[in-house]
This record gives sequence, C-alpha cells and structure tokens, in this order.
Amino acid sequence: MVLTAQDDFLAPFIQGKVGVAPSLLAADFARLGEEMQAAQSAGADWLHLDVMDGHFVPNLSYGLPVIQSLRRASSMVFDVHLMVAPVDGYIDAYAAAGADVITVHAEAGPHLDRSLQKIRSLGKRAGVALCPATPPDVVDWVLDRLDLILVMTVNPGFGGQEFIPAMVPKIAQLRDKIGKRNIVLEVDGGITVTTAPAAIAAGANMLVAGSAVFGVKGGDYRRSIDQIRGA
Ligand code: DX5
Ligand code: ZN
Repeated sequence: MVLTAQDDFLAPFIQGKVGVAPSLLAADFARLGEEMQAAQSAGADWLHLDVMDGHFVPNLSYGLPVIQSLRRASSMVFDVHLMVAPVDGYIDAYAAAGADVITVHAEAGPHLDRSLQKIRSLGKRAGVALCPATPPDVVDWVLDRLDLILVMTVNPGFGGQEFIPAMVPKIAQLRDKIGKRNIVLEVDGGITVTTAPAAIAAGANMLVAGSAVFGVKGGDYRRSIDQIRGA
C-alpha cells in the first residue's frame, strides 16, 4: 500500500508554526529506510528529499526509485527539492512517485509559471527555490501559483556548506511579498542551532537541516530537531 500525507499538512506552517524538515542527503545511504523512520520518530515535520541531476548542480544524489521505495514505507510529508534542469519532463514522475510538495528552481528553465501549473494540476503542492544570487522578485508574478518558497542559504549541490548570512534580508523580503497568502517560507542550507534564529527572525518557518540532524554521528535526532525548531 502506498501511504500518503494528510491533506492539510501545510496548514500549521501557514498559521505560523516553525517546522524542521531533515534532509535525507546527510543520512546513511546504506540504511535509508531506517534513517527515515528515525527522523519521523524523532518528531521531524517533513522529510526533505534532494534530487540532483549532475547538470543543474555539480552533483548527483538519488531519484525516482529511491523515493518510490521510501513512499511505500512511510506516510511522512515528502518535500521533494528538484535540482534538475530542464525539469518539466520529470514532474509527472515525481508526483507519481509520492512527492507531496514538489519544488522546482526558478533558474531551471524559462517557464516557471507552466512548471508550477503542472505541479498543481497533479494535485501536489508547488514550490519554487531561489539560488543565492537570484533576486526575490522572480516570485512576483507567480505568487498565486505557489504553496512554498524555498530560499537557498547555500549554493545548491552539496550538504555541509556554510550558511550565507546575506540571505537573511532576502528571507525578510520574501516574507513581505507573501503577506497573507497561504505560502510556507522554507530555508535550505547550513541550517544549525546557530544559524536558524536569524532565518526564523526574518520570517522562515520551515527549516531544512541535513548535517545538523543526520550528520551528527551517533546523534540524538530528537534533540537536534527540537533544538533547531526552538532556536
Ligand atoms: C543542498 C540541498 C540541501 C542540503 C542541506 O543542495 O538542497 O537540502 O541537504 O544540507 P545541510 O543542512 O548539510 O546544509
Ligand atoms: Zn534541499
């Protein structure tokens, strides 16, 4: 049986709750299923899944078969971050594989509006990710097609990089643009107990964390997640 997330999974975060989405990129790939279950048991809000194509970003991670297998084993919210260009040809497949949120990069192609329409037409929640050098205005004419905005706080492609502090005012500008719309504001890259407070203060309310959760060797995932959420 394929398990799916409950329909209103965005609601608490639209109402202001701060969530943590551990990124499986930093998990032990020999034990992916167990790592996912451990994150869920430790109170992870969503599971962040980074798909890298070796073209849009200079690294490869994992793709459809891995997400399909994980989906059969979990009802967690799957927050799928596609670092893929061109991306439109993959949206159907990731929706079918069990993604709940599908996030595409603003820089991944010339037709962001079409990509977002496609995601919603499949019954999925639509996100856009912005690389550090991308101005926040790229969202201006697609705001009504968005469920999530992901601010990259590192250059995408690798876990374990340092948070870029210059992204803090960009997070704040995007929070202003969102206004009263039902859009979650997510940050991704270099999020730790030390960097999370600035991101949260600027208006982020979904915090992706790879190294700071799965990367802590012998780590207590619940403690890490609680500390980041409460930072
Ligand atoms: C980077 C990915 C991130 C990454 C975050 O391209 O999008 O989700 O896993 O890893 P940390 O938290 O280690 O920076
Ligand atoms: Zn990511």
